Amino acid sequence: MAILDEIRRFWDDDATTYDNAPGHRPTSPAVQAAWTAALADLLPPAPAQVLDCGAGTGFLSLIAARLGHRVTALDLSPQMLAKLSAAAAAEGLDIAVVPGPAHEPPPGFDVVMERHLLWTLPDPGAALRAWRAAVPAGRLVAIESLWGDADRIEALRGRAWNFVQRRRGTAPDHHGPYPAEVRGALPLGSGTHPRAVTKLAIEAGWACARLVRLRDVEWTTTLEQRLPERLLGVTPRFAVVAT
Ligand SMILES: C[S@@+](CC[C@H](N)C(=O)[O-])C[C@H]1O[C@@H](n2cnc3c(N)ncnc32)[C@H](O)[C@@H]1O
Repeated sequence: MAILDEIRRFWDDDATTYDNAPGHRPTSPAVQAAWTAALADLLPPAPAQVLDCGAGTGFLSLIAARLGHRVTALDLSPQMLAKLSAAAAAEGLDIAVVPGPAHEPPPGFDVVMERHLLWTLPDPGAALRAWRAAVPAGRLVAIESLWGDADRIEALRGRAWNFVQRRRGTAPDHHGPYPAEVRGALPLGSGTHPRAVTKLAIEAGWACARLVRLRDVEWTTTLEQRLPERLLGVTPRFAVVAT
């Protein structure tokens, strides 16, 4: 499928610098600790069999493995997975990697989790349905944030934030933008809203959906900001958890 080839190329190119963005890989111990606490609360007791879809360089996979889970990382991009494997090896963590598309998950897991994958899927509903089938008695943990045009206030905040960052000369989060024809083919390509993510999960057959706001992650991230960014606040982060 041509669009998946384009997306794979983008992330293969992005792998070199992806972890430089604090939003992708925070260096603050407090932010890291908040993420660890959040994931410990969202996942079942360790050791569980956890599939991290669109695992990238392994932000969630590494935390879950440190918590004692048996983690498999699935991603379209071999270069992102190579970064993940190197980071896991550096910590002596055993994380299996599977190159492939999110809508073709391997079976046999207790949990499917993802962070910031849904926006870049041409058919996020199909992936959520495939995960449901791969984890018939398990749990979904979909971690997203409210960004983009999905909410007018957030869109304004995001624009102000980007303006300040550009004035400051901060390097962008990615090596470049998605090609317009790729972004135009992504149903969540202009933003993820908790309403849309929850609706998609329920329509895909996930039950008992709960919405969890990741406030400690937001708070610790805010404390790291300089002015004026600190006044602008940070992107609201949330998880949709379902069974
Ligand atoms: C924004 S990054 C998120 C990475 C990681 N989950 C994190 O939280 O840092 C999106 C990731 O999804 C992967 N990806 C994009 N489309 C995919 C697809 N159709 N199937 C599997 N992975 C995909 C990309 O290669 C990239 O690693």
